[in-house]
Amino acid sequence: MALASSLTQSDIWKLLQQHHADIAQEHMLDWFANDPNRFESFHVEAAGLSLDYSKNRVTRDTMQWLIRLAEERDVPAKTRAMFRGEAINRSENRPALHTALRNFSDRPIMVDGADIMPEVRDTVQRMEEFCWKIRRNQWRGYTNQPFTDVVSIGIGGSFLGPKLASSALKPYWDSGLHIHYLANIDGTHITEILKRLNPATTLFIIQSKSFGTQETLKNATACREWFLRNGGTEDDLPKHFTAVSSNIEKATAFGVAEENIFPMWDWVGGRYSLWSAIGLPLALAIGIDNFRDVLRGAHEMDEHFRTAPLDQNMPVIMALLGVWYVNFFGVNSHATLPYDHYLRSLPGHLQQLDMESNGKSVAIDGQPLDYQTGPVIWGGVGTNGQHAFHQLLHQGTHFTPCDFIMPMNSHNPIDSFHAVLVSNCLSQSQALLQGKSEDDAIEELVAGGMSRAEATVLAPHKVIAGNRPSNTIYFPKATPQTVGALIALYEHKVAAQGFIWGINSFDQWGVELGKKLGGKVLSALESDRIPEHFDGSTNGLIRAFHHMQDYL
Ligand code: F6P
Repeated sequence: MALASSLTQSDIWKLLQQHHADIAQEHMLDWFANDPNRFESFHVEAAGLSLDYSKNRVTRDTMQWLIRLAEERDVPAKTRAMFRGEAINRSENRPALHTALRNFSDRPIMVDGADIMPEVRDTVQRMEEFCWKIRRNQWRGYTNQPFTDVVSIGIGGSFLGPKLASSALKPYWDSGLHIHYLANIDGTHITEILKRLNPATTLFIIQSKSFGTQETLKNATACREWFLRNGGTEDDLPKHFTAVSSNIEKATAFGVAEENIFPMWDWVGGRYSLWSAIGLPLALAIGIDNFRDVLRGAHEMDEHFRTAPLDQNMPVIMALLGVWYVNFFGVNSHATLPYDHYLRSLPGHLQQLDMESNGKSVAIDGQPLDYQTGPVIWGGVGTNGQHAFHQLLHQGTHFTPCDFIMPMNSHNPIDSFHAVLVSNCLSQSQALLQGKSEDDAIEELVAGGMSRAEATVLAPHKVIAGNRPSNTIYFPKATPQTVGALIALYEHKVAAQGFIWGINSFDQWGVELGKKLGGKVLSALESDRIPEHFDGSTNGLIRAFHHMQDYL
């Protein structure tokens, strides 16, 4: 049987379908009422993080059968294969070995017959030396002034992870360096960054695994031209331009001195590359010791994922809950809601991590799937979201499972601020759980002085369905270790879901078509001749672009 249909035809899948039908109408509040230990039973800890998953539409039976699903889909064996470095990214014939980048054990990791760990450790050592020189002002700009600013030029995985970790760990920035992330191909973005900078005190890091990404190369070229136009010379370039890439040839052809290129490897996917030298801007900001702690936190989560029994395994539990909602409740989105200003970039990173990994329609053997895979990942920081999109979470026709993420202590305690923030976080998941019945809405309105007749008319607008699920991930404080563990937690959740769905979570062929078509459209935009060979809409939009070029 093809891999795809073997999932939906399996006994465990059918059992879960039946079980869903049996409990779909039950209310979580009743489960809490009947089980005083529900919080303790649906709770797990790993690598300094705690997960409360008691506010989910699951019973002990549900969890037991979901765990059986994970077993039958070989999650433990596939996990071991990933850690061992097997070529689990089959469409590109590569391993997915981001875990090697934070392997603090003495386990060798073999790729093509060679242990990759010495090269990984050498790279961290080089990063350490580089950070040391920049942070101690040993490596200076062409006027011999120390660097004040670092511009990291990269997009996608070469941008989102480092940006998230840098902002998450802002309290650990101790070098005085300002770190800027330039990603988009948008004249406004680059202009807004460069206009505040002095070329003599600015260091550029070109971050591109392939060194072939249009946006990154165009931005890097523009930065180099800006540097040369504003006082720097060709001879000064090596002092100011460094790169992280697996394509040394292209990086040197661009003009980066070979000794200023940090390596990347085929066996690290872009969205999993924060842990490599792509994390350089982060290491410059927080120092190599803190960077190592980020790796350590991730390694602790790796060890947990690799060794914990499935029913105690945080990433596996989160993966199974996601599968439960997507495939049995028909849910198609998932919200991530950090209650921490420093973690505000988390939803953006998770969008790429999850949607680029699990936005797939065929099984690993190429067969079309007869079930849904990765949901839309979105979210935003609390409490801001409460005054924006939480309305839909509470009363919308769509039902969206949420992850609330909350450090129990703030880096910036101001009187009762943090307690207020936490109270908002807890009361949101509580409101999603309990909702408000029509009777309660009527009584509330009557108590407020409204007539019963008027209250009955207004009450339906105030009804909140409740019984809406959420996870709460909490930890003492957002430190380098906990932030590392948190990011790794989601990486493994995504991998475990991919293992269950039988898809390849490590390729991203879907993004290629747009890139190819982009070249042809660009030629049409830059040509004098109005094209007729695209579809009607694209032709029309290109015509509009041409017509509007005279607009001032
Ligand atoms: O277009 C998608 C993508 O390939 C991502 O997977 C990757 O993170 C990003 O582009 C950037 O790629 P690179 O590091 O090769 O410039």
